[in-house]
Amino acid sequence: MRILSVASLGFLACSAVPAAFSDDPPVAGARGIGDPYYPDLGNGGYDTLHYELVLAVDPVANHLDAVATIDAMAEVSLASFHLDLAGLEVEAILVDGAPAAFQRDGHELMIEPERALAGGSRFQVVVRYSGSPQTVPVPGIPVDGVGWMHFEDRVFTLSQPSGSMTWYPVNNHPRDKATYEFRVTVPETYVVAANGILVSNEEREDGRRTFHFRASDPMASYLATMNVAPFEVREMEGPGGLPLTFYAPIDAREGALDDFDRTPELLEVLTEWFGPYPFESCGGVIMNESFGAALETQTIPVYGGREAGIGTQVHELAHQWFGNSVSVDSWRDLWLSESFASYAGWLWREREDGSEELDARLRRQYEFLCRRGDQAPADPGAERLFGLGVYLRGPMALHALRLRIGDEPFFEVLRTFAARYRNATATTADFTSLAEEISGADLGELFEGWLYGSEIPDLPEAELSCAESDEGNG
Ligand code: TRP
Ligand code: ZN
Repeated sequence: MRILSVASLGFLACSAVPAAFSDDPPVAGARGIGDPYYPDLGNGGYDTLHYELVLAVDPVANHLDAVATIDAMAEVSLASFHLDLAGLEVEAILVDGAPAAFQRDGHELMIEPERALAGGSRFQVVVRYSGSPQTVPVPGIPVDGVGWMHFEDRVFTLSQPSGSMTWYPVNNHPRDKATYEFRVTVPETYVVAANGILVSNEEREDGRRTFHFRASDPMASYLATMNVAPFEVREMEGPGGLPLTFYAPIDAREGALDDFDRTPELLEVLTEWFGPYPFESCGGVIMNESFGAALETQTIPVYGGREAGIGTQVHELAHQWFGNSVSVDSWRDLWLSESFASYAGWLWREREDGSEELDARLRRQYEFLCRRGDQAPADPGAERLFGLGVYLRGPMALHALRLRIGDEPFFEVLRTFAARYRNATATTADFTSLAEEISGADLGELFEGWLYGSEIPDLPEAELSCAESDEGNG
């Protein structure tokens, strides 16, 4: 579902106006959605609304038997269209109930329905597929591969940015959010942890169990997750009665679930900073072994076995506002997600340790950036997408904004950004113009320098300048 921001809704009061009339000659849907970093990710010509993933998982053999049903809307008349699917065996495809021809080329799955799809009409695709899912490599990411990760006798899925296509056919780009349903069947003794709300958990005649999850908030594909392990489950309540569900494998380190003791408090603090929590539920999953990373999967971040400390939780939970509810429109805007989540970590340290500690940290990191911070946060390039620019210089850019416009307007900018683009996508320009709108200040130079410049700008409010620290060192 391509949700228009509230700002643009006024112009389209009568909702989705098809871009073409149904009697236009049908065209071939594009093999990419138009992302400058990943030209083959996502697809053109349609908009997905809902995914229903019926998955039978054998976590020991690493085998998946699946049927994906996708509801979508054709934006133009389509003779053919693409989905993204990496590996696996496609057994059959139906479009609106009729068998459809298909071809595969790398992760591109090209589907040719029996009859062309009329522009502006809804259609349904059913893909039956199976096999042994494998991760896909992504250059510039701190993990070996993303997507379906099999560890001995369990499965975790961490898919940013492109891994969802390793386990289901998908319009694989955050610009096309959709709602999800998961019906996952696993051997007895296993538990499934997926996004959203657990609707039912039923034992089948053969002893296996089927877990049905419904994720009703629009979600970017890289945030979908489904994890299969002998989990211990703990339920808690967050602010306003928000249901929280936490999972850790029964053989995880002693007391792993206690890592989440402070989650309700963290959510409360994040709500003070950023406004209402955007989704129907929250929680967390701990993996069985140290993985060295965590991912902000929607409503249920997945943490490496030793990576669920408070700092990491603050980061992944802050992503629920920034990254998940307000998503990037293109991957080059990733700082809108990672820099904001990282800055939440700064705010947390400030809250816990005081503003002097924050100031000391600012000075340390500013000096560090003077030596190695040439990477700009906005549009960092695909190879440096998850690099220093986005994780360190970006949060410092936000701090520079805060020092310039003052605390109250700064937090109003964050809260308004979260509210205005809730369940939608945003661009860097959306954020910078909002900051100017709220502060009434001309921030062109500040943003140009911090977000795009090759040099680290001065921070006059903190009396910091790389030119000076150069002299000091030399
Ligand atoms: N977004 C993650 C973070 O919170 C980093 C990340 C990107 C990641 N891709 C991943 C983690 C894949 C695990 C797996 O900073
Ligand atoms: Zn992050």
